[in-house]
Amino acid sequence: MDTAKLILAGKEYEFPVVVGSEGEVGIDITTLRAKTGAITLDSGYGNTGSCKSSICFIDGEQGILRYRGYEIADLAEHASFVEVAHLLIYGELPNKDQLATFREKLTRHSMIHEDMKKFYEGYPPTAHPMAVLSSMAASLSTYYPPVPGEDSDQHIIRLLAKTKTIAAYAYKKSIGQPTIYPQNDLSYCANFLRMIHAVPCEEYQVNELWVKALNKLLILHADHEQNCSTSTVRIVGSSQANLYATISAGICALWGPLHGGANQSVLEMLEQIRSDGANYKKYVDMAKDKNSGFKLMGFGHRVYKNFDPRATILKKTCDEVLGQLGINDPLLDIAKKLEEVALNDSFFIERKLYPNVDFYSGIIYRAMGIPTNMFTVMFALGRLPGWIAHWKEQNEDSGSRINRPRQVYTGPTVRSFLPIEKR
Ligand code: CMC
Repeated sequence: MDTAKLILAGKEYEFPVVVGSEGEVGIDITTLRAKTGAITLDSGYGNTGSCKSSICFIDGEQGILRYRGYEIADLAEHASFVEVAHLLIYGELPNKDQLATFREKLTRHSMIHEDMKKFYEGYPPTAHPMAVLSSMAASLSTYYPPVPGEDSDQHIIRLLAKTKTIAAYAYKKSIGQPTIYPQNDLSYCANFLRMIHAVPCEEYQVNELWVKALNKLLILHADHEQNCSTSTVRIVGSSQANLYATISAGICALWGPLHGGANQSVLEMLEQIRSDGANYKKYVDMAKDKNSGFKLMGFGHRVYKNFDPRATILKKTCDEVLGQLGINDPLLDIAKKLEEVALNDSFFIERKLYPNVDFYSGIIYRAMGIPTNMFTVMFALGRLPGWIAHWKEQNEDSGSRINRPRQVYTGPTVRSFLPIEKR
């Protein structure tokens, strides 16, 4: 199986077949237009391989997700988010020395320039933190302008280290509290939690259970091959836009409710169901009715067709965290009942719709005292190393070109221009 044949207008063409390290088969149509004059049409890119990548492997039928060959369950159980960030960006899990150096760099670069704090004064307190996050990410390029041809590692470190501080400041500003500087003796996750929860007038105690849960959540979100935001990062990065601008675009793409914004929408949906008397069957019926415009948020996935391995881990984590904290959240009960009803309904069974990563993550964030409008920011913090890894891989690929799809034009054919008085 090393070539594929296409017959178009009675003429036969051959195209090479590319096989990935896990046996995935792709038909290389790079020469399609030159040979045949035709292009492919693939709405939503469901059948299009946009690149070769060695970062993340997903088998949606089997529910497999691996980062650089490591099973997601192993990483979530045994690694820290910083180790996983190293794995994704540099290709290997760090040894002790590498980890210490990486951690030290992330710590040393975690403050943002004092002048950048003034930007926050311009945003209204109601500003969505995703808007602030993407603007601030792009603004980093004004303080640390990348120079073409320089080593990008310093920018990668800065972006990774500062984004959590930027995110925490966005939250603090939105609730009218003073921002809290990062504290160098704390880990990445502990530092972030302190920056959002601490207040200057009180002693802050790191909650190790939250730190563990946050590490897991961020690891589960850290990469997911060519999803909408990562593809955005690759598209924007392909024009050689700088790292900060590119990641800012990725953050915006993530914000939408069909992608990372779904975690906020899930919580809002669960709240709505609760205030409607917990009538979850009504909402399942609404989701089945195409005219209702309602979807079960946190359900379905383009790639996973049996289960989302991240959701399986998160459901268990959710029970553990809430159990250990002694929290009895009625939204968790509604979520479980909703899941049960949907998974036994032929509409969802036939369409292979299962809970995805966003279904349970919000309930854990809520238990940690993280407000709903910060959920997608949490997703962005987790996805950051994945975006950076894809940007770096693309940048280091000498064969990569500017991403520029084509289209099948369906508008009017040539028309004569009429001056305004004749229209
Ligand atoms: N509720 C009800 N019906 C659904 C849902 C849902 N959540 N998801 C898909 N369907 C139906 C859809 O209407 C279609 O039905 P039919 O074949 O009769 O027209 C069928 O299932 C296939 O759906 P699709 O929209 O063609 O699938 P897609 O691959 O284009 O979209 C999705 C995937 C995730 C955008 C979609 O399932 C969805 O909108 N889910 C809700 C939003 C959500 O939870 N997003 C987070 C995704 S996971 C985090 C991430 O990586 O971004």
